[in-house]
Amino acid sequence: MAQKIGILTGGGDAPGLNAVIRGIVVNGIKSGYEVWGFVDGWAGVLNANARQLSLDDVEDINREGGTIIGTSRTPIFPKKGSPDRSGEAVEGLKKLGLHALVAIGGDDTLGEADRLYKDNRFPHVIGVPKTIDNDLKATDYTFGFNTAVEIATQAFDRLHTTTKSHHRIMVVEIMGRHAGWMTLESGMAGGAHVILTPEVKFDMNEVYQVIKRRYESGKGYTIVAVAEGIEETDESKETDAFGNIKLGGVCETIQERIQEWLDANMEKPYPEFKFEARSVRLGHLQRGGAPTAFDRILGTRLGVQAVEFVKQEKWGHMVSLQGTEIKAVKLEEAVGEYKTVPEGRYEEARIFLGL
Ligand code: F6P
Repeated sequence: MAQKIGILTGGGDAPGLNAVIRGIVVNGIKSGYEVWGFVDGWAGVLNANARQLSLDDVEDINREGGTIIGTSRTPIFPKKGSPDRSGEAVEGLKKLGLHALVAIGGDDTLGEADRLYKDNRFPHVIGVPKTIDNDLKATDYTFGFNTAVEIATQAFDRLHTTTKSHHRIMVVEIMGRHAGWMTLESGMAGGAHVILTPEVKFDMNEVYQVIKRRYESGKGYTIVAVAEGIEETDESKETDAFGNIKLGGVCETIQERIQEWLDANMEKPYPEFKFEARSVRLGHLQRGGAPTAFDRILGTRLGVQAVEFVKQEKWGHMVSLQGTEIKAVKLEEAVGEYKTVPEGRYEEARIFLGL
């Protein structure tokens, strides 16, 4: 009888997930395995809810966004007062008679996979790194990031023309909970005049001065890129099941502050003129839709290699992009801490800001 590989996708979806699934299913079946997809991440494991995936199920899905097996943010080990459900998870995995589990996810999902491996009740675990935020350590890039940056860049391109026509200030909020990768890269590619990320302390007075300078030099409009992760948060904020604070909306706060400053400080060029700040939150638009060629290929390669890792019994490891190669790194190297934007990367972008 064929050995079974179970797969799950956890956390926020990322363009390229379906390419990973296709890579695992095609290489898995060609290598003599059955591949089973848990429905909605760890929730599917807890409920022993999985379906067998055929070559037909994955035909052409590398071109589609989302994940055909669904995702959720469901922990199995205790999180902030939630119960330990790892026993149920191990039962769910064993009930299906799995040989191996491939967990595709970010820090939370892979953290659970690493604990499962170390806990030793079901150690046959392989990880695949996924997040549009690109904040996972031990891999150069995560799939989904390239697509998200591309979408945000297109948004900047569109916002330039309308913002310029109305001589406005546009505050654009980009996803990225712990790291400013998406904001920095799309801000650079999309020609933002100000880039605010969680890694670099900023002073609103500097933002106002950029706006003022641009008006005075006749440029008359300013695009401000803001990472959602710059939001100041407190205990009262709603969290997900892993304890992550639900972010979103900091662009409105920044917009209000800029508007107040404009009203108090800027002299109108003619009586009817209105100095206006507006804001746009790109939010889930960045995660939806078709992946770029880069993400399709990265996702496919990671999926193919995940099956090779199963064959080589590289339990407790993750497939990782290093340069142009896919290599093995221990799951524990990827989780627990985030890969934030190094100062040097921001400094490269800073040269072009405020112009
Ligand atoms: O982790 C990826 C991500 O898209 C973050 O950038 C964002 O903060 C979060 O997920 C949003 O998650 P959800 O869709 O669960 O609100």
